[in-house]
Amino acid sequence: MKTTELISSRRSVRTFSGEPLREEDAKRITDFAGTAENPYRLPITWLLLDAKEKGLSSPVISGESAYIAGRMKREEHAEEAFGYSFEKIVLFAQSLGVGTTWIAGTMDRSAFEKAAGLSEGEVMPCVSPLGYPAKKMSLRETLMRKGVRADSRLDFTELFFNGSFDRPLTPGKAGGLQPVLEAVRLAPSAVNKQPWRIVVLGNRAHFYKKTGKADASGEWDIQRIDMGIALCHFELAALESGYSVDFSVDDPGLAPDGGVRYIATFAFNKDRS
Ligand SMILES: Cc1cc2nc3c(=O)[nH]c(=O)nc-3n(C[C@H](O)[C@H](O)[C@H](O)COP(=O)(O)O)c2cc1C
Repeated sequence: MKTTELISSRRSVRTFSGEPLREEDAKRITDFAGTAENPYRLPITWLLLDAKEKGLSSPVISGESAYIAGRMKREEHAEEAFGYSFEKIVLFAQSLGVGTTWIAGTMDRSAFEKAAGLSEGEVMPCVSPLGYPAKKMSLRETLMRKGVRADSRLDFTELFFNGSFDRPLTPGKAGGLQPVLEAVRLAPSAVNKQPWRIVVLGNRAHFYKKTGKADASGEWDIQRIDMGIALCHFELAALESGYSVDFSVDDPGLAPDGGVRYIATFAFNKDRS
């Protein structure tokens, strides 16, 4: 299946069938995770954890048999790097028919961190259950989706801009980049906040994050994980559309005073040969 199809068909799965994760799927996912790099080149250790054996659960998940977790050094850009690599794994799992849900909050964090063997100076930003979606969502799952309006996303013109933040970009004006930006629009985010904003200037897409509480305090910023997910969707969809891409962190100074914070840039080019 094409990446953009995986992106548009993915949803968080919180009700699983109870069928244990098949061995061949577990192996494929762990093998793939070992290759899931990120543009920040930060290493992440991935762990497949047996839910029963390790006593792991989440109050919002049912019928799961396994979780995947990642741990890494706590350092600059850890959030974006984690978001990028974990989303690659999420989409790979989706290609196998294995359901996932990004979980940062609704879990017994200390039990997961112990099971993941977290050591001093490391973080385990998120985990996900792995399993086969049940035929019907639980009532709790249906209500949770309603609570965060999980089936909707902000409009294209609220997220993407043409050269500067005062010029919204319409899908019609986005040209060949339209499916790439649409893939970013559909990305999952914590509490479905969609903090990503992109200014397209020439052959560069500059990624900004709508500022939140963590920007003032300088603490761990979950919305930077969302930004990593957005970068991942952009790169995968751009490659699928025939662009080559080049990643950099070099603030072009387009942000108005307050409201957004620069994160990273992708230059995109189409080979004319
Ligand atoms: C970084 C991150 C953290 C999340 N944490 C949780 C969580 O703790 N519990 C939960 O039920 N969903 C969590 N989610 C899932 C989001 O609520 C979900 O992706 C969003 O509502 C959009 O729905 P969709 O994934 O079905 O498209 C998280 C998503 C992201 C990206």
